[in-house]
Amino acid sequence: MLLPCTKENIERAAKILSGGGLVAFPTETVYGLGADAFNKEALVRIFEVKSRPFFDPLIVHIADLDSLHRLVNFDVMCNAAKQNLKSLCEVLWPGALTLVLPKNDDVPLLATGGLETVAVRFPDNETALNLIRFSTGAIAAPSANPFGYLSPTRAKHVEDQLGDKVDIILDGGKTAIGIESTVLDLSCTRPKILRQGGVEQEKIEKIIGKIDNQIEKTYEANQKISSPGQLKSHYSPKTRLILHKTNEIISMPFEKKEAFLFFDDNSAQHWREFNKNECNIKQNCVFILSFEGDLNEAAANLFDILHKIDSLGFNIIHAEYAADFGLGRAINDRLARAGVKV
Ligand code: TXA
Ligand code: MG
Repeated sequence: MLLPCTKENIERAAKILSGGGLVAFPTETVYGLGADAFNKEALVRIFEVKSRPFFDPLIVHIADLDSLHRLVNFDVMCNAAKQNLKSLCEVLWPGALTLVLPKNDDVPLLATGGLETVAVRFPDNETALNLIRFSTGAIAAPSANPFGYLSPTRAKHVEDQLGDKVDIILDGGKTAIGIESTVLDLSCTRPKILRQGGVEQEKIEKIIGKIDNQIEKTYEANQKISSPGQLKSHYSPKTRLILHKTNEIISMPFEKKEAFLFFDDNSAQHWREFNKNECNIKQNCVFILSFEGDLNEAAANLFDILHKIDSLGFNIIHAEYAADFGLGRAINDRLARAGVKV
């Protein structure tokens, strides 16, 4: 059931969460599928509804810093990690940064995929924060999509994909950032980015110093993995996607039933110029992440446009890489994974 984010509806949804139900809700990144983080039956339902493997851990969402004490075992953290946590929370929370920290004993292993760490996020969205506050204060929520598919950036995407498997879907419109949070591991001696996302690596490095980007690349299913968001095939549209460098894509011939996803209008113009003798070109095979080439706008539109292309019956999506800095890293990461089919 799709409901607008009024106070009454948020309270109603919070009651459902407290009673062990599932609620899809907006955050500033993508829509989440929430359950009480301490209710094991409710957590099992998340995995069932998403067809998600149990080894893939969830993010626990909180609405105040005190809640960290319920989730995190600070005793086993070194002083440097504690200091990093403090500095990052001060500047970047609430926001699109998820921190992986040593877990408290009573955090269910179901929420952490069997790991001794827990991923925690303090989202920057009023509906999400009120929902957490009015319910149990700690809501486990993966993105509200079937496992492996694109994350939802609108309530309608959740409804189309999960329908009545969810008790309530709170409709907060299109999400502001449009790409999932950055996942940063603070549980080990050196901070490590496990997933590029809504907060730029450069912003994090300004606070805690340079981060080593060496993360393991491939994983077998069922192996214990440090962050399944690193699975090669993930965040995928149904349509086959092929990634190209700018100089390649702008000189690709138009083909029927093939969509072209450009980073900015500049590339689209070059492509149109290259294909100017092709009188069949329909404007509607051309998609642009950001007309002016703005990385924030491009990230906000990425999943939204991929959802749209997926619904239009194209055979292939040809996509252009974004610049590899700032949010461009997260965009390229999602495009690369969208392009891998296993
Ligand atoms: O923006 C977001 O992060 C959204 C919204 C709803 O908050 N949530 C989201 O959740 O993207 P999900 O489940 O789709 O992705 C969570 C990522 C996965 O890559 C998972 O492997 C990683 O976080 N993760 C969770 N707990 C972890 C842990 N203990 N250690 C390492 N990685 C973890
Ligand atoms: Mg996800």
